[in-house]
Amino acid sequence: MKTIRIKSPATSANVGPGYDIFALTLKAPWDEIVVSIAEKPGITISVSGNNSPIPCNPSDNTAGLAVLELLKRKNLSIGVDIHICKKMPSGGGLGTTGASAAGAIFGLNKLLDLKLSNNEMIDIARMGEVASGGSPHADNVAASLLGGFVLVKSYNPIDALKLEIAEFPVVLAVIRKSQRTTRGFITYEIGQEKLKDQMARCARVIHAIYSKDIREFGEAINVDHIAEPVRSAAIPGYAEVKKAVLNKGAHGFTVSGGGSSVIAVCDKCDTEEIARIMRAGFADNPNFVDVIISSTSNTGVSVME
Ligand code: HSE
Repeated sequence: MKTIRIKSPATSANVGPGYDIFALTLKAPWDEIVVSIAEKPGITISVSGNNSPIPCNPSDNTAGLAVLELLKRKNLSIGVDIHICKKMPSGGGLGTTGASAAGAIFGLNKLLDLKLSNNEMIDIARMGEVASGGSPHADNVAASLLGGFVLVKSYNPIDALKLEIAEFPVVLAVIRKSQRTTRGFITYEIGQEKLKDQMARCARVIHAIYSKDIREFGEAINVDHIAEPVRSAAIPGYAEVKKAVLNKGAHGFTVSGGGSSVIAVCDKCDTEEIARIMRAGFADNPNFVDVIISSTSNTGVSVME
């Protein structure tokens, strides 16, 4: 049996205005994905280290679905064992499901020496996202695979660009979603003014990354007219916590990925106080899991020794 052990980092998708096209790689948390070639054809999935139920049926699991897609595209009839060793809290909004799919495809690419390009791996891994959010969005899997800040330049064909990003602190409140996905409630009819503001903010995010300006970055991600209105409405206390965190000096605050987790970007000296505000603000929410202080990272999936 050939085996490989992969470290797959968490990601924060959308990054304010970049719905389905932006994602940020985080230094922590991360999951371990162990991929093995088995003797008998078929996919088996096992999970350890987590209390939340994660489906082990391959077609209901993001890694399983991505591997099914890979085997179909490459016309392979082999056996694959995937063990997901959860170290991240299952949320939503930390890209944990995308990290599993990214790790499994990266690992199989190495084990089988398939020589897939990054965009091919992203295109295959994103199919796994159908199991979690019902849509093959590429933002989370791209960031988990590539590291840094990822911009999906094209969906047809898939083309993702990694921008190296200055390492800056982030504080996340991990909050579980009360429903599988809120994508169906998002409206794209936002009107001319909001559309222009959304596009300007996307441009500002990219400019801030190039100029390594965390303040500009934070201000740009602070408003999103597409996903934030829908998702923040399902997070009790969101507006109050956002206001308190920004008053404390955070540069930006938004919903992380598909929610209900939230992310703040701030200076290092403010992380503890912002973590305290988030903990107090979300303490009464039964879906609140934990607060994590982390940072951005330019490292995507990697092989563990
Ligand atoms: N772009 C995705 C969304 C990320 O907002 O639904 C979450 O998986």
